[in-house]
Amino acid sequence: MSRLFKAAVAENRQIIADHFLLTLHPLTKIVEPGPGNFFMLSTDSGLDPLLKRPFSLHRRVGGDFQILYRIAGKGTGILSKRKKGDVLDIVGPMGNGFPPARSRDKIILIAGGLGIAPIFALAEKLKKNKPMLFYGAKTGEEMLCLSELKELGIETVISTDDGTSGIKGFVTDILKGFLSRHASRITHHVLYACGPGPMLMALSALANKFSVKGHIALEQNMACGIGTCLGCVVNTKEGYKRVCKEGPVFPMEKIIWGEGMGENLRKESN
Ligand SMILES: Cc1cc2nc3c(=O)[nH]c(=O)nc-3n(C[C@H](O)[C@H](O)[C@H](O)COP(=O)(O)OP(=O)(O)OC[C@H]3O[C@@H](n4cnc5c(N)ncnc54)[C@H](O)[C@@H]3O)c2cc1C
Ligand code: FES
Repeated sequence: MSRLFKAAVAENRQIIADHFLLTLHPLTKIVEPGPGNFFMLSTDSGLDPLLKRPFSLHRRVGGDFQILYRIAGKGTGILSKRKKGDVLDIVGPMGNGFPPARSRDKIILIAGGLGIAPIFALAEKLKKNKPMLFYGAKTGEEMLCLSELKELGIETVISTDDGTSGIKGFVTDILKGFLSRHASRITHHVLYACGPGPMLMALSALANKFSVKGHIALEQNMACGIGTCLGCVVNTKEGYKRVCKEGPVFPMEKIIWGEGMGENLRKESN
C-alpha cells in the first residue's frame, strides 16, 4: 500500500495560544500508524514551503488521525490557517515507532512539552499495562491532554518549570526522586520518552545512573524524511543513524550525546 496519500482537514482547532489539534480524514486507505510513527505533511498546496514537515501520530479516531502541533515557523504557521475541507498531501506513516512492551514490564512514560503528542498515543495503546506518566511543561497553561489522560486512567505526575501546575521543577528531577525512592525495586521498569533535546539528554544520564532501559523518540530537523538526504543523522554506538529511517525511536543507551549532539533536536518555545 502506498504511503503517499491525501487527507482532508476535518478540524484544525486552536487549543491554547499557538498550539493546535489537527484532525485529518484520509481520502484513501492508509497503512495503519502506531505510536512513535510520524507523517510528513505538506503545509501548503503551493511550493512554499517546498519541504513537507514531520509530525507525530497523536491519536487515531475512527478512520481519522490527529496531530498535535505548535506554531514553530513558516510551515506550521501556514498549517494553522488550514480550514475544514482543505486537502493536504501526506507521506506516512514513517519511522520505526516505539517497540512493544513485554507483559512483565513496568512502564514509565515521560513527556516534555509537546513530547506529549506521541506519548499520548503510546499511553492509549499501553493503558492495559497501567503505565505511569511523568509529564512536564514550562507552565500550567501548556499542559495538554490532562482530561483525556484522566479518561484513560493513566496515573500522571505533572510538573511545571514555574510551578503554576503540579510540582515545581524539571520533569527529569521529579523522575529522579521517584527512581531514588524505588531504587531497590526498579528491576523491570522501562522508560519511554519524547521531549526537547536537553530533557532527553538528562533522561539518558538518569537511566544510565539507575541502570534502567528506555526508548526515546528524537525530533531532529528533517528535510526529505525518507532516508535519502542524511540531514537527520545522529551519532550512536552503532554508528550514524538516520532519525527518519532507523528512528525516530532509539534505545536511550545507544545515543552518543557528544558535543553538538542535541543542537538540531527540538527545543521548546521561548
Ligand atoms: C519525527 C518528528 C516528529 C515531530 N512531531 C511533532 C509534533 O507532533 N508536533 C509538533 O508541533 N512538532 C513536531 N515536530 C517538529 C516539527 O516538525 C517542526 O516544528 C516543524 O517542522 C517546524 O516547521 P516550520 O516550517 O513551522 O518551522 P521552520 O521555519 O522550518 O523552523 C522554525 C524552528 O523550528 C525548528 N524546526 C524545524 N524543523 C524541525 C524539526 N523537524 N524538529 C524540530 N525542530 C524543528 C527550527 O530549527 C527552527 O528553530 C516533529 C519533528 C520530528 C522530526
Ligand atoms: S531527513 Fe533526509 S535522511 Fe532523514
